[in-house]
Amino acid sequence: MSHGRPIEDVISELGEIAEGDKWEYGKQFSYVFDGPDLSEMTAEAMRLFASSNGLDPTAFPSFLRFENDLVEFARSILNGDADVRGSATSGGTESILLASKAARDALRSKGVAGRLNMVLPVTAHAAFHKAASYLDLEMRITEVDDGFRAIPEAIEGAIDEQTALVVASAPSYTHGVVDPVAAIGEVTARTGRWLHVDACVGGMVLPFLDHSPAFDFSVAAVDSISMDLHKYGYTPKGASLVLHRDAERRSHQYFATAGWMGYPVANATVQSTKSATALAAAWASVQHLGADGYRRLTQDSWEATEGFIDAVRSSDVVDLVAEPDAPLCAVTSVDVFTHGQAMRSRGWRVGVTPSLGHSPAHMHFTMTAAHLGLLDELVGDLLETAPTEASDVMAGLAGIDLVSLDPAMIGGLLDSLDLDSDRAVVDAAIDSLPPEGRAAVISAYIQHLYR
Ligand SMILES: Cc1ncc(COP(=O)(O)O)c(C=O)c1O
Repeated sequence: MSHGRPIEDVISELGEIAEGDKWEYGKQFSYVFDGPDLSEMTAEAMRLFASSNGLDPTAFPSFLRFENDLVEFARSILNGDADVRGSATSGGTESILLASKAARDALRSKGVAGRLNMVLPVTAHAAFHKAASYLDLEMRITEVDDGFRAIPEAIEGAIDEQTALVVASAPSYTHGVVDPVAAIGEVTARTGRWLHVDACVGGMVLPFLDHSPAFDFSVAAVDSISMDLHKYGYTPKGASLVLHRDAERRSHQYFATAGWMGYPVANATVQSTKSATALAAAWASVQHLGADGYRRLTQDSWEATEGFIDAVRSSDVVDLVAEPDAPLCAVTSVDVFTHGQAMRSRGWRVGVTPSLGHSPAHMHFTMTAAHLGLLDELVGDLLETAPTEASDVMAGLAGIDLVSLDPAMIGGLLDSLDLDSDRAVVDAAIDSLPPEGRAAVISAYIQHLYR
């Protein structure tokens, strides 16, 4: 692009590009959390702070104000006392990475040498696998029970002197169930291990659900919690919190150096120079909605969930994979790949999660406040599109061994398919591979998409 373009021209093209991301309100599951329309307020918040730089919160005190207020809000809904400390991050993955680093460095500070490990149930989010990879922690993955909850005895069996942290989910993303945090806390307290509770998806809903099991700082053994604002906080992407029981624990999250020929650095998070845009928008959303607003939104999403669950239970063409504690539903059917594609053809952008262990392939419905008004349409479409018998969706790919293809061939093959109309084939093909094969194929395909 050798010549610049007039602003109106660029803005007009931005509008066209945005069309490609459009979805119908409430119909894009998982990636967006539709609910109250706060877009005017959040856009203004982002505009006002577009150039502030979190590299130095003394030069840009907005960061201190926003982060301290958000941490105080989180502390108040998560039963934390005044000792609880936290940081704003760019998302759940960064919060998890930082909590894992803090736990690792806390154990190292006690003089434990050698490779450390993390003990995590198989239902813990993939972000822990990424953290383990980035931080060189061995992963010790433990089984879950029939209801997809972590088993405290299995966790205890995996812990040793090198265990830097133990993970519990509140709830797990896939099945929406809360791990027995209090029982796991007894294990970590007895063995002197760091307990991290991943409330990325649940931190803004569980505090407002009367039936929620204890999962937060009310459990004395909990050391840190990750909690996203850009999910059930109904605020734009790029906002999460990582919270620690006290300042000492949080100190291990920081990175500081003065060992180069430049300015001294002390960073709480992965980024150094960082934007205040999503943070300002999150602050505005929390100020506007307050705990009362989130309680009302949670009531709506939970009422939608109960209605949805009842409809699934009373049908003989769909099955609930787990009884969720939070508004996340995993639903399967006799041919879930075809079913998922049929739902997509009716405008419901729902993803099919591959099977693993005793978790069958299923559609994942992240229910938000938007779904209360859409419940009849959603249930109607789910039942009407449900297949009554299995089909051989992968017949067209017979004889192709996906894992043995090189990345360019995988890219070419997937390019030849339409990700909407051939979705069932793609989902079934991915499901047919072992987990390492799935990861390799998907990574090859995504890499192929970027120039
Ligand atoms: C329980 C849980 N933990 C962590 C994450 C990762 O969050 P993010 O995608 O914001 O990095 C998610 C995302 O869905 C989640 O549901």
